[in-house]
Formats: sequence, structure tokens, C-alpha cells
Amino acid sequence: MRAYLDSLRDAGDLHVVRREVDPKHELAAVTAAFQKRNDGAILFENVRGAAMPVVSNVYGSRRRLCALIGAPDLAFCPAWDRLMAGAPERADLQQVPGNRRRVALSDLPQPVYFEKDAGPYITSGILLANHPETGVPTLSFHRAMHVDDGELRIRIGASHDLTRYQQTAEAKDEPLEAAILIGTAPEIFLAACASIPPDADELAVANALAGGPLDMAPCETVGLSAPADTQIVVEGRILPHERRPEGPFGEFMGYYVPEEPNHVFEVTAVTACADPVYHALVCGSPEDLIPLETAVASKIYRHLTARLPGILDVACNPQLLNTAVKIRPQYDGHARHVMLAAFGAHMDYSKTCMVTDEDVDIHDLNDVWWAFVTRGRADTRSLVVPDVPGFYRDPHRDHWGRLGIDATKPRGREAEFERKRIPGGERIDLADWLA
Ligand SMILES: Cc1cc2nc3c(=O)[nH]c(=O)nc-3n(C[C@H](O)[C@H](O)[C@H](O)COP(=O)(O)O)c2cc1C
Repeated sequence: MRAYLDSLRDAGDLHVVRREVDPKHELAAVTAAFQKRNDGAILFENVRGAAMPVVSNVYGSRRRLCALIGAPDLAFCPAWDRLMAGAPERADLQQVPGNRRRVALSDLPQPVYFEKDAGPYITSGILLANHPETGVPTLSFHRAMHVDDGELRIRIGASHDLTRYQQTAEAKDEPLEAAILIGTAPEIFLAACASIPPDADELAVANALAGGPLDMAPCETVGLSAPADTQIVVEGRILPHERRPEGPFGEFMGYYVPEEPNHVFEVTAVTACADPVYHALVCGSPEDLIPLETAVASKIYRHLTARLPGILDVACNPQLLNTAVKIRPQYDGHARHVMLAAFGAHMDYSKTCMVTDEDVDIHDLNDVWWAFVTRGRADTRSLVVPDVPGFYRDPHRDHWGRLGIDATKPRGREAEFERKRIPGGERIDLADWLA
């Protein structure tokens, strides 16, 4: 991550806060205010009570995520698919000696994000674990609540690979060894976001993104190696048959998840590289939602392109549980096929699906809605699928049912709906005009 932060500084995308900030609420408040105006990263040099600086919004920009994977036209999904097609089956790893110092969990910055959060949380932590039987590594995000220097409580969603890994270990009454990576290089971060088939190797995805072997250093107390340049590594094990209260926590949808019994992570060591930077991530902010969007959208894109013609791009807004699909319509009812396929492509995030022509910006819901209301009837172009389960955490079935919106032009009347344009408008750079 250090090299990436240097490149952001050179590009003017790293903004520095020198005055002291309180890690309890103030750091999150300043970050959230900053994110409303800027998609750069923000570095807090002076965090009260902390021995290291804190950086946030490192990955909170679609523009930057697209640049990282070589998609300068901002079409993330097709570029991601091309990269994945070239990913090796197993990662090419280079073992390097460990050269890290031990710190205590309580030496790390202790950000508290939202008013009713149970306490400080690690929110950017990527869990690295090997499957107890096959050894295939997985990388995934899981929030972790600080309890004391020896214990974190972590939330593992039902659908994640790590859940299966933990269940396999638990069935043998064994703990699952894991390392929580805080402050990783972009390729590790993006690989952790990715939802790839369960038996696939997420370090191989990182390898493909890095374009060369990954440097891995042995952990000190667990049988794992972690990416050598990770700023902070929390080593430990997820205990079998042990659940303790975790939460409440202000999560991505904009509400608090209540206290629930969740997994216990026993901390066996915390190590840091030289001059570490702690990565704080505000849940539900662009740094959470944009990476999650790319992960969900690329999974749905892969599913749709394997089944239907004319799929150009997919955008997802996880907070809205919405999927927008840009197509080149090929036949009557094509948009409806796309909706039904999108509903089946992701059980959690496709509560609504909107399908547009290629002249619509699917990342701008105003534009998508404009296309829907100006290009045809509301009644015959919406599709309600009743009584289908949706987002997984839903005790009262609030997320049941699906809504599809066909925002494409009526077939055979496309010319009537040509978007007006000003010749040369797309080439205007206002800096040339506002002297
Ligand atoms: C920035 C970020 C934070 C996330 N935080 C959590 C979390 O706290 N708990 C959770 O269950 N999922 C969380 N997710 C979702 C998944 O963990 C994530 O997409 C996962 O890495 C996909 O791995 P999988 O292939 O095992 O599903 C988060 C995703 C992102 C992008």
C-alpha cells in the first residue's frame, strides 16, 4: 500500500490532515465530509493516542479502481473479465524473510465510526486463510470488533468462502488459523473484493493483477504466509463452537446491525512493517460501496454474458440493492430475459434490476430513471416477481420480492428517442475557458 500511496501523492490524490483528530467519531466525520467533495485518499498524520498515521478512502474511487485494472473507459466489468481470463490457477508466490516488529492490538489506532457502534472496529481487515483440507487460500473482508489485546469478534456472512473454511475446521473441533491484513497493496484489496468460484485461489487473482510473483513472508505464530508489505498483520485463529456477542455496528445499508452472537478471533500476534500506516474504512461510504459494487457487478456481468447476447456493462449499487445493465437489444423481450437472469445471478444484491440502452449512463440512477420515464409506459415495462427471498439478513422478509424495470427504447421506434447532443461538447475542457 505504501507504493500506492506514494503514487497517489504524486498524482495529487493524497490529501493530508496535520491537526490532531480524535479516532472516536471525529476521524470518521472528517472522512465522510471529505468524501462528499473529493474521491482522493485522506491521510491523518496525528491521531490522538495512536503511534501511527491513519489513511482512509484509499480505494473509494471508481476512476482509480478502473485505472488499477487498465479500464480507462470506466467499464470495469469487461476489463476485469479479460484479466480473470489470464489469471493462473495457482498463485506464483515468492517467500521472503519476515522483517516485522511485534506490536499490541491496543497500540493500533482505535477508530469508532458510528454513534451506536459497540466500540472500535477493524473495518478494512482482509482475512487470509487456507482451506483446512485443500489448502486453497481465500481472502475476504470481515469487520472485527476490538475486545482486548487477545480477542476480536468477527462477523462472517453466510455466503462467504471463509464460512465454509471455518465450518470444515469446526466439524473437526479445530480452530481455523487466519491472518487479518490491514493496509494492503491494491492487488490484494481487489482480489479480496472479488467473488470467484469457491475452489479458486484468490491469491492467484492478486498475482494476475500484480503481473508477477507476490512476495510473501511467514507469519510468526500461525502456519500462514502473508503479503510481505502488509502494513499490519493480526495473526490468530477463529475458535470452533464459540460465539460471543458482537455489535451493534453501523453497516453498509445505512442502519445498525444489532448485537448478535458471532465468531471469536483469538489473537496470537500483531506485527507491523517499518513506519506502518493504518487503514481506516468508513462502512457504507464510497470506500466500502464502490469496491463492493465492482465485486458484485463483475459477478453478475460474468453470469449474464455467459447466457445472453448484447450485454455491454453492469453497474450495481449495493446500498440500493440495485443492478443496472446496459444492453444492445436484440429481440422483443430481451430486457426481460436480462432482468430474470440478473435476479438469479446474485441472491443478495439484485432486489431491483434496471435495463437500459447503450446511450445511458448506468452509474447515474437519474439517467437510468430518465430513460425509463421518457421511453415508454410504466406499467408494461415493470416486472414484479413476488415472494422471492433477497438479501440474506432479513428476519422479517423486508427484502423479499424483485422489481425489474425495462428502460430501453420501444423496439422499431429507436430513432424517435435519439439523445440530443451539442457537437464538440464532450471535448470541452473548462480549464481552457475559465482563465
Ligand atoms: C470494503 C468491503 C468491506 C466488507 N465488509 C464485510 C463485512 O464486514 N462482513 C461481511 O460478511 N462481508 C463484508 N464484505 C463483503 C465480502 O466479505 C466480500 O465481498 C468478500 O471479500 C467476498 O468474498 P467471497 O468470495 O468469499 O464471498 C465487504 C466487502 C467490501 C468490499
